[in-house]
Amino acid sequence: MAKMSEIGKVQQEATGVRIQLSPNVPVEPIKMMVARCATGACGCDCVQDVEAITVEETTHGPQIHVQGPFVSVESIAEAMTHCEIPDATTDQAASIPTHGSFAETRQAAIQEQYGHIAIMADQAGCGCGCGGAWADADSIGVQVGYTRDELASVPSGANLGLGCGNPLAMASLKPGETVLDLGSGAGLDCFLAADRVGELGRVIGVDMTPAMISRARQIAQSQGDRYANVEFRLGEIEHLPLSDGSVDVIISNCVINLSPNKRQVFQEAYRVLKSGGRLAISDIVATIDIPRQWRDDAALWTGCVAGAATIDELDTLLTNIGFAAVRIAPQSGSHEFIREWVPNTSLADYVVSAVIEAFKP
Ligand SMILES: C[S@@+](CC[C@H](N)C(=O)[O-])C[C@H]1O[C@@H](n2cnc3c(N)ncnc32)[C@H](O)[C@@H]1O
Repeated sequence: MAKMSEIGKVQQEATGVRIQLSPNVPVEPIKMMVARCATGACGCDCVQDVEAITVEETTHGPQIHVQGPFVSVESIAEAMTHCEIPDATTDQAASIPTHGSFAETRQAAIQEQYGHIAIMADQAGCGCGCGGAWADADSIGVQVGYTRDELASVPSGANLGLGCGNPLAMASLKPGETVLDLGSGAGLDCFLAADRVGELGRVIGVDMTPAMISRARQIAQSQGDRYANVEFRLGEIEHLPLSDGSVDVIISNCVINLSPNKRQVFQEAYRVLKSGGRLAISDIVATIDIPRQWRDDAALWTGCVAGAATIDELDTLLTNIGFAAVRIAPQSGSHEFIREWVPNTSLADYVVSAVIEAFKP
């Protein structure tokens, strides 16, 4: 805990709050503390709806800019009263929320985790998502199935190394199609899809984490009119903010395993697809039942592993909902990167990355 006056001068601005740090106050621990408040990781609700935390070097020293519509001087003061400032000497990964500090529900834990990632993503080495470390997001991208050309074609910051496959590789998108991305994150697959469907097509990304949506929108806006055919909507994939029969193709990358209600996700997918519409999904699936002790571990669940349904369960679920030509095919080589996500357990032996394809008759 610290007093605001010890840290520096905090000023309200139209876009949020600017913290002019006092001499000898290190930047990173303060930035990390605010990020932990913003994602609920420190246990207080002080700082809400943060869109970005940036640092500017000025002639008076470093300034931290906490941007967001509801960020006020009072909220920062409250955060400093309630929340620990992390030790500057420890690895940043150590201050990522652990099981014990996670919110009660899995959805809240997931939002907390991916909110943290969205805000801290520009700092190398955070390492807390599906992939584990976006320090080298492009290498992770290639490992899971993107080409270097695809990754080079999207705006910087859209690939956070959080995928487990490349849904675009099997989506066979055509100009003019409407595409929905379930759990769009920072927008990687939406931006790739946008180039393929062209200006007559449309891409909608849905994600329940406000900071991810903000990040994706900011990236799209930074590209001028290039992504005029893309929009990002805040919402849950269990309650899609789309009308019935409005989508040609649903893509998704490493998201549905995170949902505690996969039946509802696929029912919603079926509802919003047009007749003849298709699924082209990359996700983690289980080849055998995952033991209870791992399923109950929130960190393993938010890390995209422990929530995986078995291939048989998914096949039955999709078929019962009404999907046709269901195909769930494990991707060779995926064990290697999944092992890196869960290095100290044999959990990786239970799961695999797979492509999930089906269509709505
Ligand atoms: C592992 S990341 C994948 C992001 C993106 N698909 C990619 O490949 O970069 C999972 C994303 O799904 C979102 N998410 C998880 N569960 C969700 C749900 N039930 N509804 C909406 N979004 C969800 C998270 O907020 C996060 O942005």
